[in-house]
Amino acid sequence: MIPSVLPTYSRAPLSFVKGEGSWLFEADGRRFLDLGAGIAVNALGHAHPKLIEALTTQANALWHVSNLYQIPQQQKLADMLVDLTFADTVFFTNSGTESCELAVKMARKYWYETGVPERVEIITFEGSFHGRSSAGIAAAGSEKMTKGFGPLLPGFKHLPWNDHDALNAAINGQTAAIMIEPVQGEGGIRPLPDQCLKGLRDLCDEHGILLILDEVQCGVGRTGKLFAHEWAGIEPDIMMVAKGIGGGFPLGAVLATENAASGMTAGTHGSTYGGNPLGCAVGCAVLETIAKPDFLSDVSRRAGTLRQSLEGLIAQHPNVFESVRGVGLMLGLKCKAANVDVVNAGYANEVITVPAADNVIRLLPALNITNEDIAEAIKRLCAAAKQIEQTS
Ligand SMILES: Cc1ncc(COP(=O)(O)O)c(C=O)c1O
Repeated sequence: MIPSVLPTYSRAPLSFVKGEGSWLFEADGRRFLDLGAGIAVNALGHAHPKLIEALTTQANALWHVSNLYQIPQQQKLADMLVDLTFADTVFFTNSGTESCELAVKMARKYWYETGVPERVEIITFEGSFHGRSSAGIAAAGSEKMTKGFGPLLPGFKHLPWNDHDALNAAINGQTAAIMIEPVQGEGGIRPLPDQCLKGLRDLCDEHGILLILDEVQCGVGRTGKLFAHEWAGIEPDIMMVAKGIGGGFPLGAVLATENAASGMTAGTHGSTYGGNPLGCAVGCAVLETIAKPDFLSDVSRRAGTLRQSLEGLIAQHPNVFESVRGVGLMLGLKCKAANVDVVNAGYANEVITVPAADNVIRLLPALNITNEDIAEAIKRLCAAAKQIEQTS
């Protein structure tokens, strides 16, 4: 009999009932060190007092009002994002997938309104992940996500990762945009080198096409800059955001330049919940905390400590781990043992990591993880590695 929850996930037998900082409490009383943060969502850890205050204050005042009216919390968050980034305008969504939908629509509408309606094609890359909607799976293009779900939304061209010749050859009179994650998340924590991101920006400028960055996983302070592309010193035309911006409340956004957004006039897009008062009140509290330069430099400092400790862990357990990669607190441990076994051994030792492609486990802890918790995480990962060594 089909379970009452549609079985699209293979779930670990863990049931968390409470969270505090970087810790999750299982129903049976065990305490787990959370290095997954809900896959880069709980950017400020669990039960952050500032977020609780923002949410409860708003909950006591007004939960929901339609986008047919002014929403002051939404206006405030949009103004903050515009002040802090390349963007001139913001549309709020509830998830990364919805941000992908709008990014695709916006790029195509731009060209339609510019009088070049044949420019509909969006170039994407192998290993990418942009969500599970029809546009998201068509954009990523992998068989794992698309098989059985055809006919797929047309107009995506999938290129190998890191193949400059293929990229140059792919751009033609139908190209609307290039869409890419500055650091691939699901694809196995694969950072795009700064030089390549700069090169992509130049290529887009040369051909007059739009650059769409998917910063759903790597954005909002995760790499030690507010947004990952800042490391390369470039700016996109359109950017997808979600996950960390809500700190655990479902919230996403599409940020864009005035030019890229010029086709999105009244009636061309909408959302019942996107940008609602609760989500935006939390989003403001998240951004007020994370966008502070001291907070971001602390992320880089913590990331340095974690990365160095992981190098030590790899040296101690060379049969389990191979290497560490990533940027800031978006780190991947490439495994020699099967990554799923490492994640499961982590569960047995009460530490949570997240598997990704290319036999990687992801470490995406809360951005405010303490030094003590980093040290404890390494101890627990070490215990997990020993367990694997003993059983193999
Ligand atoms: C880079 C990227 N884009 C888009 C998405 C989809 O976001 P959501 O699951 O919030 O719809 C994800 C989710 O993991 C992601 O990592």
